[in-house]
Amino acid sequence: MTDTITIRRPDDWHVHLRDGAMLEAVAPFTARQFARAIIMPNLSPPVTTAASAAAYRDRIMAALPEGTDFTPLMTCYLTDDADADDIAAGHAAGIFTAAKLYPANATTNSAHGVTDVAHIMPVLERMQDIGMPLLVHGEVTDGDIDIFDREAVFIERVLKQLIAALPDLKIVFEHITTEQAVQFVDSCGPNIAATITPHHLHINRNAMFAGGIRPHAYCLPVAKREQHRLALRKAATSGSPKYFLGTDSAPHEIHAKLSACGCAGIFNAPYALESYAAVFEEEGALDRLEAFASEHGPNFYGLPLNEAMVSLERSNIHVPDDMESAGSRLVPFHAGSDLHWRIL
Ligand code: DOR
Ligand code: ZN
Repeated sequence: MTDTITIRRPDDWHVHLRDGAMLEAVAPFTARQFARAIIMPNLSPPVTTAASAAAYRDRIMAALPEGTDFTPLMTCYLTDDADADDIAAGHAAGIFTAAKLYPANATTNSAHGVTDVAHIMPVLERMQDIGMPLLVHGEVTDGDIDIFDREAVFIERVLKQLIAALPDLKIVFEHITTEQAVQFVDSCGPNIAATITPHHLHINRNAMFAGGIRPHAYCLPVAKREQHRLALRKAATSGSPKYFLGTDSAPHEIHAKLSACGCAGIFNAPYALESYAAVFEEEGALDRLEAFASEHGPNFYGLPLNEAMVSLERSNIHVPDDMESAGSRLVPFHAGSDLHWRIL
């Protein structure tokens, strides 16, 4: 039995670090585990310009201990008024790595999101020309579509048309949750990839209702039926270069989760790699963890692989019920249970 795994230092290709006190509370967890991370721009107000992204990047670095080896990769929040010139200039200047499409009102702080992809076609054309990846929150928001069907309907109504119109645009279908998404990504060319979160690999929708309502298992896209979780596990551990690590760690203060209208988001940053390792071990695929966590992402984005290495050892860790950090009280994913790999 393998007792130690040594892999290249991984990157997180989708994370919410927030701002202010919450940023101080959560950024060190991500920087401890990952060399680089794609930083989501859904602040309030959202990060829509290269200037605001550069300022946010500085605040992230200021929230970390001096000398921390961590690179935030910034993204632009697309709105109906997105400016192709500013986005292309921000990309050329090394400020924007990618741009994020939130359908308006799909999730946390997405009220300024795109109401119709037709409005941003000139921006997407420019992104295709310059090789800048588009990151997609793939859910329709129509009230008549069942919440569990929103991702599958998005593929049919939006994504297929988008790819037909812009066949060379690099697209990351973020935090996929369904077997339809896996089948679709598999059927596309190499410019279409997907991130998969640890929580969608561990839980299905029953977790939200296990013995009562469980707000800490609620995120968007919402976890689906077991058949979908199994399809995601197969995709993540398949060795396909189209799938890579993106935690979607999305912290909310405990009072914002435990509310009559609780926020969507699972805070998995503290034990993310340990959580993925559990899945890869259960699937008999520990030898593929490194490719998923540390190679497929940089290869898709055209960035160098990290040189540093990290080791995990087989060792029990008990995940606390909650964590106090820089004045915030947060409930981590796997709260109260044990994980069996530990970062050395
Ligand atoms: O669960 C989620 N939380 N999904 C998202 O898309 C956004 C995120 C957040 O920012 O809280
Ligand atoms: Zn997210």
